[in-house]
Amino acid sequence: MLVSGTGSNLAALIEACEDPSYGAEVVGVVADKDCSGLERARAAGIPTEVVALTDHPDRAAWDEALARSVSGYAPDLVVCAGFMRLLGDAFLARFGGRVLNTHPSLLPDFPGAHAVRDALAAGARRAGATLFWVDAGVDTGQIIAQVEVPVRPDDDEASLTARIKAAETPQLIEQIHLLVAPGR
Ligand code: GRF
Repeated sequence: MLVSGTGSNLAALIEACEDPSYGAEVVGVVADKDCSGLERARAAGIPTEVVALTDHPDRAAWDEALARSVSGYAPDLVVCAGFMRLLGDAFLARFGGRVLNTHPSLLPDFPGAHAVRDALAAGARRAGATLFWVDAGVDTGQIIAQVEVPVRPDDDEASLTARIKAAETPQLIEQIHLLVAPGR
């Protein structure tokens, strides 16, 4: 799993994995900086690693290092949840087609780092979350699932983010379960 922030989706996935019938295991958590997602993983005894952009001469070298780090865990799927950096060529060459991302908008609307703010600024009436396969674009990959939530007239970024997350996390958990189900 790749994270940069709070790690609430990671926490929910760790919890789901405690039930053997869920069918998945979080084999490692890699971040681009120290963040509370890593603490949650450590508390669950899951190996963690930080691969920081600033520790590498350029983006390509960082991307190679990230790919090496993740390879060490031999994952079947790579799940980005709140990982705030774009994956580069080396990473996608190794893991392309197996990398999921969850994004807080109904893609293709509002790609990028400020999806909730952008949706409010545009006066959108509906919002939501999209789970998709990561490709080389910014939030352009093939969509796996979407969940919609209303935008209320008095919403601010915090309230809408919370409503989206309340729908986004169960979607992520359910879809990963389906992806790892035998005979898929
Ligand atoms: C999620 O809402 C995801 O859509 C976005 O970042 C958030 C991550 O939250 N890309 P958390 O770190 O899992 O709490």
